[in-house]
Amino acid sequence: MEVYSSEWAENYERLANAGIPGREGLYRICQASFQSLPADASILIVGCGTGVETLQLAEALPNVSFVAVDPAQPMLDFCARQVEAQGFDQRVSLHAGTLDSLPSDALFDAATAILVSQHISEDADTEAFFQNIVRRLKPGGYLYSADLHIAAGQNREKMIALWQDQALMAGIETDVIEALLMRFESDLRVRDEETIINFLQKAGFVSTLKPFSSLLYGAWLSQRRER
Ligand SMILES: C[S@@+](CC[C@H](N)C(=O)[O-])C[C@H]1O[C@@H](n2cnc3c(N)ncnc32)[C@H](O)[C@@H]1O
Repeated sequence: MEVYSSEWAENYERLANAGIPGREGLYRICQASFQSLPADASILIVGCGTGVETLQLAEALPNVSFVAVDPAQPMLDFCARQVEAQGFDQRVSLHAGTLDSLPSDALFDAATAILVSQHISEDADTEAFFQNIVRRLKPGGYLYSADLHIAAGQNREKMIALWQDQALMAGIETDVIEALLMRFESDLRVRDEETIINFLQKAGFVSTLKPFSSLLYGAWLSQRRER
């Protein structure tokens, strides 16, 4: 199954639910993090994939508007169908591409980048990715980001082995697990927690919290410096 093909998009929810124990909490905490935004806020969704966070936030925040970007057309197509089916198309604008090609220069109240920067293999490109997000936020704006990681003080090999065992128990096919493990050694980065926090701080985020952690997955709530 090729990553981010139409087949992958169809299987994505099942695989993500099995791969991330307690995955619903990852998105519920995102909603909770954005509860205090102005009622008419605008939110940038970076790497929207099949649309899970876009749909949940649109449901929870009925007057908020969204710009959702993703360079993988099959994922974006899947997202577009869901957005339309749930009647959110007036408030959700989709962009095929990365942030670099997003034409608008409007500043957002908040952004998400859930399970996205793990796909950027070079550290310099990942730094640029977070800098691009910070530039799109109003001063004090929030970023809710999540990525594969090894939490501080944890043993990398043992955490990956435990992830593998639980993924098998959760029903992910052996060949898919093996392919993912190989990708952990190449293009899919499982970074140390402190590397991720450094990216965020270097980009200009302050007050970073880590409200979610489950095996190899963590989420961070950060705020753009006021000025
Ligand atoms: C693991 S999926 C996560 C999708 C969704 N955020 C979620 O939580 O289910 C990662 C998504 O990020 C997209 N992506 C990869 N590199 C990106 C980049 N540089 N900018 C924006 N999106 C990117 C991929 O196309 C893919 O749809």
